[in-house]
Amino acid sequence: MRKVLVVFGTRPEAIKMCPLVLELQKRKNIECVVCLTGQHREMLRQVMEAFHIKEDYNLDIMKQGQSLSSITVDVTGRFDQILRKEHPDIVLVHGDTTTSFAAALSAFYLQIPVGHVEAGLRTYNMESPFPEEFNRQAVDMVSSLYFAPTEAAKDNLLREGKKEENIYVTGNTVIDALKLTVDRNYQDEHLKWAKGSRLLLLTTHRRENLGKPMENIFKALCRVTEEYKDVKVLFPVHKNPKIREIAEEYLGKAERIRMIEPLDVLAFHNYMSRSYLILTDSGGIQEEAPSLGIPVLVLRDTTERPEGVEAGVLQMAGTEEKSVYRSVVSLLSDKDKYQEMSRSVNPYGDGNTSPRIVDILVKEKWRK
Ligand code: UD1
Ligand code: UDP
Repeated sequence: MRKVLVVFGTRPEAIKMCPLVLELQKRKNIECVVCLTGQHREMLRQVMEAFHIKEDYNLDIMKQGQSLSSITVDVTGRFDQILRKEHPDIVLVHGDTTTSFAAALSAFYLQIPVGHVEAGLRTYNMESPFPEEFNRQAVDMVSSLYFAPTEAAKDNLLREGKKEENIYVTGNTVIDALKLTVDRNYQDEHLKWAKGSRLLLLTTHRRENLGKPMENIFKALCRVTEEYKDVKVLFPVHKNPKIREIAEEYLGKAERIRMIEPLDVLAFHNYMSRSYLILTDSGGIQEEAPSLGIPVLVLRDTTERPEGVEAGVLQMAGTEEKSVYRSVVSLLSDKDKYQEMSRSVNPYGDGNTSPRIVDILVKEKWRK
């Protein structure tokens, strides 16, 4: 019996790790322990409830206005105790959050192997995304097993000198999650509100977009909705009070822009699938939208997900008011361009990434 300890703490990690936890729980030769750091609170609970998963531990570290240092200190301190108690054979972390970095560091200090799910994504720009580029590179430095979503991610790892025998191209578990959530008959009051209009779905939360870039994005969208009366915007606002403050100031009085609480993942995936266009600085949404065939304007200057851009479904819109406005208007008025971007492509796998990862965990040689 192998003991696999899965640790995560924010909404996107949870969405991508829950399908893997469900698969681990199915296997007879694996004991799966789930530890939440609680870097997020409500937004993490929403995901656990959607997937009906009960954690074994919750470190419950979230504080209002938490700093990167406080997250790192609280996770390493508390997770170290869990590791000493549980003695797992391997710890699985996900992606690029401070939870992933701190948890991987704790495991590394205790010489417990780390498996990195969604390994090898890079912009090679430490400021964008900040601090995620540091987090994912640091996690890869201490990992023994790499689950790269694509060949491009694998190439990054190889270029950095990671051993090929430790790298597996598995796809991304986010596509596994989509298989469980999208429902053609899904309906609710916000979708009813948007019926008959072209729905723009907006999310923004990146630390480097707080302040001026976010103000620019909001101003651009106000202009768009003033000029295009058939457009409505739904904006599930992240719980971060800094975002809520700017959003209220710039969008509080905007017509046809509706700010709502973060949606549970089931609702959000269905909103995505009904949208005309998605505007986002999120990482996960850049992976989900291509498979749904919905065009995305990426509200950033860099992306570690070039696959969707190459496939023509994602377009970089930057964070200047002009660039965002022009990008949206072009997709509202140029039907050919819109059609060209509305292609369903699947660079992130076939939705069977979780069983693939678990098969590797069972068979391969990380075993002591
Ligand atoms: C974190 C991750 C980021 C990821 C994002 C997903 C780091 C450094 N950042 O950023 O990579 O893209 O999650 O959303 O790891 N809050 C609540 N309730 C919640 C969640 C957040 O109140 O359920 C508020 C708290 O005031 C918290 C603040 O939001 O202090 C910021 O949360 P934090 O996890 O520090 O940063 P994110 O921007 O969410
Ligand atoms: N998401 C959600 N509810 C929302 C907004 C997003 O469930 O109101 C999902 C989305 O489908 C994706 C993930 O959250 O799977 C992305 O999380 P986020 O943008 O917070 O983080 P990132 O992916 O940028 O790290």
